[in-house]
Amino acid sequence: MRMMAPWFKGKQQGSGSGEAGGYARLVNDEVVDLTHGVILYLDDITVSFDGFRALNQLTLSIDAGELRCIIGPNGAGKTTMMDCITGKTRPDSGSAYFGQAMDLTRMTEPEIAAAGIGRKFQKPTVFERHSVFENLELALKQDKRVRHSLVARVDEAVRDRVSDTLRRIRLEGEAERMAGLLSHGQKQWLEIGMLLMQEPRLLLLDEPVAGMTDDETERTAELFQSLAGEHSLVVVEHDMAFVASIANTVTVLHEGRVLAEGTLDKVQSDPQVIEVYLGR
Ligand SMILES: Nc1ncnc2c1ncn2[C@@H]1O[C@H](COP(=O)(O)OP(=O)(O)O)[C@@H](O)[C@H]1O
Ligand SMILES: [Mg+2]
Repeated sequence: MRMMAPWFKGKQQGSGSGEAGGYARLVNDEVVDLTHGVILYLDDITVSFDGFRALNQLTLSIDAGELRCIIGPNGAGKTTMMDCITGKTRPDSGSAYFGQAMDLTRMTEPEIAAAGIGRKFQKPTVFERHSVFENLELALKQDKRVRHSLVARVDEAVRDRVSDTLRRIRLEGEAERMAGLLSHGQKQWLEIGMLLMQEPRLLLLDEPVAGMTDDETERTAELFQSLAGEHSLVVVEHDMAFVASIANTVTVLHEGRVLAEGTLDKVQSDPQVIEVYLGR
């Protein structure tokens, strides 16, 4: 049986239909208010760089537990959108709500991360000289929200969590391997695992399958599908086969705003989308 230390929070807050439930939280963080089933609401966000609008009155909503793909040509504003969500860039106007109550535009980057938004950049940044196991352990030990007062119990709980995560990212056979020796795809999974150790409610992933083999891409699709429900995911990706394999709803960004949204079939047959991708 899984040990429950007294400082464990109970079940994770309900986060939509696919909630896996019973996942004890190791971190001592704020609770996101998901009353209306929306985890992220960007409202009328504009970001200008020297007068150029990278985001132009962008309005976008992500449901709790959703796996959303964002596509769009280069320069559409996809990365700038993620920068606004994580607090790296401050919008000129508009608001960004995490759940009902937290306005991300008023929070610092560390506060946003602590509130449960994890971001994966394109290049994997694992600790190459540490084992896979140690990488996952370190991801949690660096997390200031984890209480370290009951050291022995924490260590045991952390080991449990590392084992769960290793299974989830399919690296249980590589636990003692030095991270630097993993394949590119395995390093990407390890980094996703490091994010998962921090129990994010919302995961932002920028081109996660770039450089992966077909087999790794397929496994990543399975991983993301298994995470949806318990977590909410926003995935920016150019690989349309990958998008087709995971997405229910696809949002097309163009010139800093939403051009189209719906199933991949629907957006791919939208004349405006075809124009943007082919008409230049
Ligand atoms: N720090 C910046 N300074 C000036 N222009 C920027 C900056 N960041 C992004 N841009 C511009 O904003 C637009 C959107 O960029 P970006 O969000 O990176 O698009 P995407 O990720 O969709 O390719 C691009 O035209 C880009 O050149
Ligand atoms: Mg980008």
